[in-house]
Amino acid sequence: MKFHIRTYGCQMNKRDSESVSSLLQRHGWTHSVEDDADLVLVNTCSVRGKAEDKALGKLGLMVASKRTHENRIVGVIGCMVQRRKDQLFEKVPGLDFAVGTHRLSAIPAIVDCVQAGQGPVLDADEEGGFSEELCGHEEGGISAFVNILFGCDRRCAYCIVPSVRGGEWSRPAAGIISEVTSLAAAGVKEVTLLGQSVTLYGRKNSVWPDDHHSEAGFKDPLPRLLEAVNNIDGISRVRFTSGHPEGCSDELVGAMAVLPAVCEHLHLPFQSGSDRILKAMRRGYTSDGYSDVVARLRSAMPGIALTTDVIVGFPGETQEDFQKTSSFMREIGFDNAFIFKYSPRPGTPAADWNDDVPDDEKQRRNHVLLADQDVTGLAINEKLIGHDVEVLVEGESLRNSDRWSGRTRTNKIVVFPPREGVERGNVASVRIERAMAQTIYGTVV
Ligand code: 5AD
Ligand code: SF4
Repeated sequence: MKFHIRTYGCQMNKRDSESVSSLLQRHGWTHSVEDDADLVLVNTCSVRGKAEDKALGKLGLMVASKRTHENRIVGVIGCMVQRRKDQLFEKVPGLDFAVGTHRLSAIPAIVDCVQAGQGPVLDADEEGGFSEELCGHEEGGISAFVNILFGCDRRCAYCIVPSVRGGEWSRPAAGIISEVTSLAAAGVKEVTLLGQSVTLYGRKNSVWPDDHHSEAGFKDPLPRLLEAVNNIDGISRVRFTSGHPEGCSDELVGAMAVLPAVCEHLHLPFQSGSDRILKAMRRGYTSDGYSDVVARLRSAMPGIALTTDVIVGFPGETQEDFQKTSSFMREIGFDNAFIFKYSPRPGTPAADWNDDVPDDEKQRRNHVLLADQDVTGLAINEKLIGHDVEVLVEGESLRNSDRWSGRTRTNKIVVFPPREGVERGNVASVRIERAMAQTIYGTVV
């Protein structure tokens, strides 16, 4: 029997899909293209209304495809199940099952039930959580995501995540270290440690059996974890995402700077440059506080790349607030930025406030920031021309198979002509010749 998973949303969702894929394979299923699949899963995101609409559209098509694919089973998993629960069966008649974010390990058993004619099934329980069964990875990768923190206890006024991913819980370090050790033995070179506000790893529950200083002298949970993962043989790059200014302690910044495998890149969403809006968003920092974190990161790692998320059109955002966001972005000079139009999420505090910025104005603000970011990103990348950068080679470029691509330690995509002796998984030195805002081009030296 064959399965296919279609994934929407963030890296956490991508990682969940990979876990489920590996779990199904251990239960005798084989992965296939969508058209051949007996079981189709849609992994959904609820972060903005548009993300939900896309997934609902896809689910509708998949359910309709049951007419031409006899015995096909269609299931929905992920954040939207947690938010909409049994409403989904009304929205998408013919759906066979819906499984929430806390119950992924139940999927093989639920599929068995549906196959036995006991569907439709809803499992959106909030008990369950992480289990070792969910540690599987795709074979042959050089780069892997590893979960270290689940859920979120922050209460940003706009955000659906706490209600779809539950309360914050940090995974004990020992399990993470053993997962990364097996990944390294299987040929993985780069790991990205995942969590919402991952810089708060180990804040709420204990993750180390003792509170001693590590060999390098770190006491906080995340610096200690970075050191342990840095020390695993075969791992040449370590990243963690997403950051929150609150967890960016001097010790963490110091650990990033001294641990050789930890990359000079941080995704640190700022959301708004206006203190009034930041306060309404309940982000827990001011624009000065954020700038201070950036100054400390840059003074410890002058070449660090910073990427970010911004929301435009939050309730009450005036032209003046928007101007502050726009000048703040230029002041910091991000390597890359993801800009989102505010979308009210039912059940969040901000959903009760007047969504008073009209959509065309949100669109305009979005375009202004995107255009500015293109200029900033290009200027930063152009400074690399003539320099040699360290690239982890990923293989054929997605856009053009005559070209190869890889990433710098700062997470920039580098495209170069293939060169004999340079293989996937190698670290190559590439001399940069040309730059665009999102991609840089060069030759292996
Ligand atoms: N509307 C628009 N953007 C949102 N984000 C989170 N919630 C919302 C929302 N309700 C954005 C934030 C976050 C990114 C993953 O999505 O910028 O960092
Ligand atoms: Fe990821 Fe949030 Fe979307 Fe869930 S709702 S997939 S946690 S971005």
